[in-house]
Amino acid sequence: MKKEIAVLEGDGIGPEIVAESVKVIGAIEKKYHHEFNLTYAPFGASAYFQCGSPFPDETKAICDRADVIIKGPVGLAVEEMNRIPAEHRPEIGAILPLRKRYDTFANFRPVRLPKSLAFFSPLRPEIIGDGIDILMIRELVGGIYFGEKTEGPSTDMAFSRDDCMYDDALVRRVAKVAFDEARRLGTQMTNVHKANVLATSRFWTAVVEDVARDYPDVPYASVLVDNAAYQLVKNPRQYNGVMLLENMMGDILTDQAGGVIGSLGLMPSACVGPEKSYVEPAHGSAPDIAGKNIANPYSMVGSIALMFDRCLGLTDEGRDIWTALFSLYEDGFVTQDLAGFGQRGARVLSCSDFGDLIVERILAD
Ligand code: IPM
Ligand code: MN
Repeated sequence: MKKEIAVLEGDGIGPEIVAESVKVIGAIEKKYHHEFNLTYAPFGASAYFQCGSPFPDETKAICDRADVIIKGPVGLAVEEMNRIPAEHRPEIGAILPLRKRYDTFANFRPVRLPKSLAFFSPLRPEIIGDGIDILMIRELVGGIYFGEKTEGPSTDMAFSRDDCMYDDALVRRVAKVAFDEARRLGTQMTNVHKANVLATSRFWTAVVEDVARDYPDVPYASVLVDNAAYQLVKNPRQYNGVMLLENMMGDILTDQAGGVIGSLGLMPSACVGPEKSYVEPAHGSAPDIAGKNIANPYSMVGSIALMFDRCLGLTDEGRDIWTALFSLYEDGFVTQDLAGFGQRGARVLSCSDFGDLIVERILAD
C-alpha cells in the first residue's frame, strides 16, 4: 500500500511521542512492504507563534492532500497560552476546525486494561476482574462544542450562552457506527444520555432507539450520564463492549476512563470522517514534562494502531502494534507515568527507549 500521511506534531510532548510513532510506522512499512510518505506541518500553539495561526493555510493544504492525518496533542503552559488571543487558541482555532473540516464525527476511544495489568488502575484488582475492554464512541462534530456562543453585551447584563443542537442525521450516523461496531465485536451497546433533563438528550436517545430496531441481535442498554460516571468507577466491566456518547459527555467520561485504567497516557483515539480521518491521543500536551524524554508514547502509538486498523483497513498491522505494546507492559517495561503502581520489578524506560522496544518487537515476530 502507498499512502500520504500528514504529520502534525503539535506542542509540549507532541513532537516526542510523534517521533516514536514515526519509528513504528517505519517498522510497519519495512515488515509489510508498504510505502508511507510523511509530510510535517505546523499545528497548535507553537504554530500560532511561528505562523500567526494555530491551523495555517499551508497545513490545511497538506492535510487536504493527505490520505490520513496524525496529530499530536496541542497547547502550551498557561503563561504562553495567555499570550494567544482567544480565537487563535489551539482548541477553538485548530482542533475544532480540524474536526469540522473533515467532518470527523466518530471518535473511537478504546479503554483497555487486561487483567494482568490491573495494578495500573487506582481501583482494586477485584474491580478490574477479568479486565476492562470498553470502546467509547464519542460524537465529535455536534452538540454544545459546535453550537452558537453568545456573551452578554455589557457587564451589567453579564451572561453567556452555549447552544446545544443535534439533528437526526448527526445522531443517526454515529449511532449506526456504534451498533455496527458492537455487532462486529459481538458485544452490547450502551447509550449514555441525560434525557431526564435535556431536550437534546431525549431527542438523541429517541434516534438511537430507532436505529436500535435495525440491530435486534445487539444487546442494547441506556444509562444516565451521571449514573454512568458513578458506575464506571464502581463496576466498569459492566460496560465492556461499546458505549455511545454525545460530544461533551464523551469528552468528560473518556478522561474519567483514563483515570480508571491508570493514566491518560493509555488513551489513544481515532477521529473518523466520511472521507478523511485523523488520529490523536485523547490527552493534552503535558508542557510540564515536555522535552524530558519521559512521556508515555502509548496513546500516540496506539493511535497509529487505530490508524492502520480503522482508517486504512490494515488489520494485521494494527494488531502487531497492540501486541507489541501490551507485551512490553506484561514484561514489566513502563514509562514514568505508570511506574510505582505496585508492579514488582518494573523497569522504567524513557519515551524513546520505549519506542525502540516497540519497534524491535514488531519486527521480531
Ligand atoms: C479532547 C480534548 C479536546 C476536546 C479539547 C482540547 C478541545 O479535550 O480531545 O478530548 O474537548 O474535545
Ligand atoms: Mn478531552
